[in-house]
Amino acid sequence: MNTSTTSNIDQALTTTRAIRRRLDLDRPVPRAVIDECLQVARYAPSGANRQAWQFLAIDDPATKLAVAELYRHAFDQYQARLTIGSELDVPAEARRVLDSARFLAHHLHRVPVLVLVCQDGRPPLAAGHPRLSGYYGSIYPAIWSFLLAAHARGLGSSLTTVHLAYEREVAAVLGIPHERITQIALLPVGFRTGRTHQPAARAELTGRVHWNAWKEDGTDDDRG
Ligand SMILES: Cc1cc2nc3c(=O)[nH]c(=O)nc-3n(C[C@H](O)[C@H](O)[C@H](O)COP(=O)(O)O)c2cc1C
Repeated sequence: MNTSTTSNIDQALTTTRAIRRRLDLDRPVPRAVIDECLQVARYAPSGANRQAWQFLAIDDPATKLAVAELYRHAFDQYQARLTIGSELDVPAEARRVLDSARFLAHHLHRVPVLVLVCQDGRPPLAAGHPRLSGYYGSIYPAIWSFLLAAHARGLGSSLTTVHLAYEREVAAVLGIPHERITQIALLPVGFRTGRTHQPAARAELTGRVHWNAWKEDGTDDDRG
């Protein structure tokens, strides 16, 4: 792989952000563009190469509204739990995300396309079940591929899961057979507006990289 390919890939991986406020709510997204992103997503890895993904794309206004109402209920409940006491008790970065997420929750019905990513089967229920990681890990790479492909086409989105508090209700709206299909994430997709993205702000890896054995003090070097 040459240097410019590597740097293009690194650039996409470091600048694909959660876009909520900067979605163009008035510019339709052609179905063909969504199809292109889905075509990229189907190359993602999955456990035993099962490829058990299912994608339900919604561009019908009434259906979007019905899903968005459930999303907003779920968000309001989430927000109420998070901000017991005062919203000022929430750390600044979490508050920034919360403000942006609130905007999305209140405008979701206007986002051009909602892509609901689902997977065949139901997840193992027990916490720590050895198949749990494989179940969710078999769908998140496809979600991330979709988001990267969308980003490369001038689109924006944000991975969202808050509506899952109302998974059954959303299943009823969309005719999804809840007992054998699991909803994983809802991706609101629109064209991006405004400036192009800088790399995301992320914590350094200091103390989080361990070579050869776990070092509780966070030293990342096993040489002494
Ligand atoms: C598993 C998962 C669930 C998420 N759920 C939501 C959600 O329900 N609503 C929302 O607005 N954002 C959600 N996000 C988006 C995160 O808030 C976002 O990825 C994070 O704040 C980083 O944003 P940035 O890339 O713009 O820095 C979720 C992200 C992940 C990975």
